[in-house]
Amino acid sequence: MDLFEKIAANRGPLGSHSHYAHGYFTFPKLEGEIEPRMIFRGKEVLTWSLNNYLGLANHPEVRRADAEAAAQYGMALPMGARMMSGNSNLHEQLESELADFVQKPDCMLLNFGYQGVVSIIDAMVGRHDVIVYDAESHACIIDGVRLHAGKRFVYVHNDMESLEKQLERAKRITDETGGGILVITEGVFGMSGNQGNLRGVVAMKEKYEFRLFVDDAHGFGTMGATGAGTGEEQGVQDGIDLYFSTFAKSMASIGAFVAGPESVIEYLRYNMRSQIFAKSLPMPLVVGAIKRLELLRTQPELKDNLWTVVRALQSGLREKGFNIGTTTSPVTPVFLSGQISDATQITFDLRENHGIFCSIVVYPVVPKGVIMLRLIPTAVHSLDDVRQTITAFEVVADKLSKGLYSKTEPMPAS
Ligand SMILES: Cc1ncc(COP(=O)(O)O)c(C=O)c1O
Repeated sequence: MDLFEKIAANRGPLGSHSHYAHGYFTFPKLEGEIEPRMIFRGKEVLTWSLNNYLGLANHPEVRRADAEAAAQYGMALPMGARMMSGNSNLHEQLESELADFVQKPDCMLLNFGYQGVVSIIDAMVGRHDVIVYDAESHACIIDGVRLHAGKRFVYVHNDMESLEKQLERAKRITDETGGGILVITEGVFGMSGNQGNLRGVVAMKEKYEFRLFVDDAHGFGTMGATGAGTGEEQGVQDGIDLYFSTFAKSMASIGAFVAGPESVIEYLRYNMRSQIFAKSLPMPLVVGAIKRLELLRTQPELKDNLWTVVRALQSGLREKGFNIGTTTSPVTPVFLSGQISDATQITFDLRENHGIFCSIVVYPVVPKGVIMLRLIPTAVHSLDDVRQTITAFEVVADKLSKGLYSKTEPMPAS
């Protein structure tokens, strides 16, 4: 069969919706400054779908640092991969500041989070080693695991009995092969908002020998007394052997880092294919990240404001009877029952009639018959924004329960 014909016949689970979704439900264009109120198709909307947790995206000091660094260095410098010609004092300064902040001896910058995670996993394990990972892990973890030539076992999300069972299986194998075990989980799961049970996983180290790799994309900057992440929040930062986060969320930028013991970070510097064979982070991103980290460290009110909005939103939704699942982080899912057509119409209604823009998540990310509206509160939302949103959600949930949405077809995007 011709590959292009095969693709035309099956566009994939999300791509199959593109004919009506594209430009509206998928690939929407939010315009204007990155603020709670942005412009969508010419109209102002209250936006709840950007991972700009601390509001740094449009912070005046950040904007100034980014602009000055771009003017001073341009976007090209340094050229090449870190190992060959792309290193600089500022890259190393940022690494050392990040290591200090997350309480690890050393740190390595990554040019993208996704490729970084895939490549860390690839570099850490060989065919004699075994990976044990949480079932709800992010796609980058799954893809890293897919590269692994040895055995891999998945445990039921946050279920320590299931983890123990898989560790036993893993141990039987490594006893034979002489390999090691890598356990992988997230700090905060970006869809449900659940924290990974890091305390439980770390406690398993008393019985089993393994190393723990935590992807804390959503926890860095938002969790823990200083914002150092979910390990700090749960008092087990020392038990995390390799700590990863991206700059794409709290830091409102691009890039990522991994932190851990010096010898392991040194090994990763010389063995991570996604870094050895790809260009290093441009200088303005490095300088911008140094400024963001400084604000994250010195302005705790950013995290305090975030949590004020989180608490108001989550308790307000719960009081009105909404099912927001088991979140223990800023990520706020709202679960409703309905079909994909209901989901599209609710989203359309929220955007067009209530001026609320949030992300919509449907099967296959959530089970069939479940609609998830995902809200990301930030430090720059106001309590009025929260009230407006909860009122709008009450109206649409009432319409949904009366079956008013399912009587019409999904809204085609014009
Ligand atoms: C849990 C998790 N890990 C990794 C990534 C990928 O990071 P990046 O956007 O820097 O590639 C994301 C999304 O950004 C994420 O949510």
